[in-house]
Amino acid sequence: MHEPLSADFDAAWKSVLSSGRFHLGPETAALEAEMAEHEGAQYGVCCGSGSDALYLALRSLDIGPGDAVATLSNSFMATAESIARTGAKVLFVDPDPTTRGMDPRDLRNLLDEPGAAALKAIIPIHLYGRRSDLEGIRAALADAGRDDVDLIIDAAQCHGSPGVASETRLTCYSFYPAKNLGALGDGGLVLTNDEALADRIRGLRNHGRAGKHEVGEVGINSRFDEIQAAVLRIKLRHLRTWNAQRQQVAAGYREGLANVSGLTVPPDGAGHVYHLFVVEVGASIRAAFVAGLKARGIGVGQHYPVACHHMAPYPSDRPLPVTERLVTRVVSLPMFPGMRSDEVDATVDAVKAVLSELNA
Ligand SMILES: Cc1ncc(COP(=O)(O)O)c(C=O)c1O
Repeated sequence: MHEPLSADFDAAWKSVLSSGRFHLGPETAALEAEMAEHEGAQYGVCCGSGSDALYLALRSLDIGPGDAVATLSNSFMATAESIARTGAKVLFVDPDPTTRGMDPRDLRNLLDEPGAAALKAIIPIHLYGRRSDLEGIRAALADAGRDDVDLIIDAAQCHGSPGVASETRLTCYSFYPAKNLGALGDGGLVLTNDEALADRIRGLRNHGRAGKHEVGEVGINSRFDEIQAAVLRIKLRHLRTWNAQRQQVAAGYREGLANVSGLTVPPDGAGHVYHLFVVEVGASIRAAFVAGLKARGIGVGQHYPVACHHMAPYPSDRPLPVTERLVTRVVSLPMFPGMRSDEVDATVDAVKAVLSELNA
């Protein structure tokens, strides 16, 4: 992915080096504007990581101790962590068993529970690159009469899905290297259509500063590097192509793995950008399935084998049966832009061979 861009990267480092400006300079401002336009929002604010993006978005809504924020447990721990960092309580909603995104039916259940009185925001996660059911989530909130609850999207796995940042007040991204749009290190971004929120986040990411020596509130150091911005601007030009290549890989898997007994293949969805392609197998055979694929040279992962509510800082007061089941079953197949069709075929063949051995 990076090899064909190396001449562009060389020119970018030289230009940043000679500018003498190493963070929050013109490259960062240009990336913020370009990402906002690309994703369908008006304002962008870069920061140190996707985790910080979520934390800063929550802070911009004045969320803190005494409040509660709901998200998924079958995901990366950073979302729960960002809520906890504000001092708010983390509430978990079960996912839909098919899409694995937040289930509006379980959200509706939560809204009737006593803990929901403190609910200030929901962070749906566009998990694996698939868009959450925002229509359903909004309908659940409306049904419960909760138009006071804000929506923040965790789009850390969903860069480049058309119009993704136009749907809610705040959308948060990670530029972790393995993401669909990844830096050569850490980085994050908040997109919004709300100028006041953008201004507030701009202050909060830089020690809460309102001027060079003026501090309006307690912030953090979450500035953004010019070198990373320059790299990301080069990579952004290829994001649509790379996402289309991911979609092609997913189509190849879906065709090759249709009707394989003992395997659940994820359904396609509008705007799915396939950060990951996560299949499911029976819990009792998962370890052997993973070992069998690795023995055949197929690099697989598990996203995520431990639910956040089983991690010490984020216990859940409510049962999460779908999450409990998913974390025992998920397996991520290789997925990257430029993956060749013979590599997809080899993976499909290996999956079938390992499963038939295990089911024999
Ligand atoms: C869904 C999700 N949210 C948040 C994050 C946090 O991003 P970062 O690692 O940039 O802090 C990640 C990934 O790393 C993620 O996958």
